[in-house]
Amino acid sequence: MLEALWEKRALLVSGKGGVGKSTLAATLAVAAARSGRQVLLVEMSPDDDGPSPLAALVGARDEGPRVTEVRPHLSFVRLAASEGHRHFLQDTLPVRWLADAALRSRALRRFLEAGPALREMGLLYQMLTLVRRTLPDGRFTHPLSIIDLPATGHALAIAALPRTVLSLMPGGPIGRTVREGLDFLQDPARTAVLLTSLPEPLPVSEALTLASELERLGLPLAAAVLNRMPEDPFTPESHAALQRLLATHGPHRGTRALARLERARAAHARLAAGLHVPLLTLPELPLTGPELVERLADVFTPREAAEPTREAAP
Ligand SMILES: Nc1ncnc2c1ncn2[C@@H]1O[C@H](COP(=O)(O)OP(=O)(O)O)[C@@H](O)[C@H]1O
Ligand SMILES: [Mg+2]
Repeated sequence: MLEALWEKRALLVSGKGGVGKSTLAATLAVAAARSGRQVLLVEMSPDDDGPSPLAALVGARDEGPRVTEVRPHLSFVRLAASEGHRHFLQDTLPVRWLADAALRSRALRRFLEAGPALREMGLLYQMLTLVRRTLPDGRFTHPLSIIDLPATGHALAIAALPRTVLSLMPGGPIGRTVREGLDFLQDPARTAVLLTSLPEPLPVSEALTLASELERLGLPLAAAVLNRMPEDPFTPESHAALQRLLATHGPHRGTRALARLERARAAHARLAAGLHVPLLTLPELPLTGPELVERLADVFTPREAAEPTREAAP
């Protein structure tokens, strides 16, 4: 499963806010880098303010739109809407001074910043520019980009954008740029969308809705990830025995944990039945930040034992 993902040019991590999108994006990036892939981890932030939560997860310096190297094989960049406007206008408007003039105009700037379409256009454009960048020898500078999409609404707006723009201006430099972007995003050979959810009823309903939206937009959903799965120490038999015991002995301190486990199992079954893509799980761990990411990456790519353990040494 992962090997197939590593062959793509872009992995888009989608899902509702709070389900673990950033954690998953960072985890995939660390796992891919560990297995020797050259990875660019991309944060798309519609708001420019505040430090990048994703940068913190991989221990990256947040230098905005400048790509920074985090460790061998892993780079990070944060794309912000305002930067995107400038690049987009400069590259697509026929004369540079027109773009600069456009950006100097307070009224136009306000329009660009208020109009959701153009904010997102800028983000999408920057992302595609980075993904397409090549080295002097023709190879891609960033063969694999892992993109932490903004919360569902924005992400869908970004994905829906090319069509909107194309219907408004099918020809010319903007139309051409947008069409290339749409081709890229809809090509299952180059793009894979991952859908993140939590193992609870409401998040699963939201994930299923998002999956059908993605399908409607022609975006290639490749896998779903159920994050924060509670540890399940029971076999079906011991679980049934415990249920019988609880039925006769009333509520117990473990009752809530058991109910959560039940919901998680049901969530897994429902998501597996509702989607026609592989369903991966990530465990709930008592960690946060970079520690959490490194341990979750072990689930995807177990680290080789770097040196023999003390016990094993002669
Ligand atoms: N597998 C996990 N185990 C424990 N905590 C997790 C796990 N995944 C995410 N979290 C926590 O959940 C919170 C939300 O995660 P985050 O990746 O920021 O979500 P999103 O980017 O979707 O808003 C964070 O505090 C993060 O540490
Ligand atoms: Mg996030």
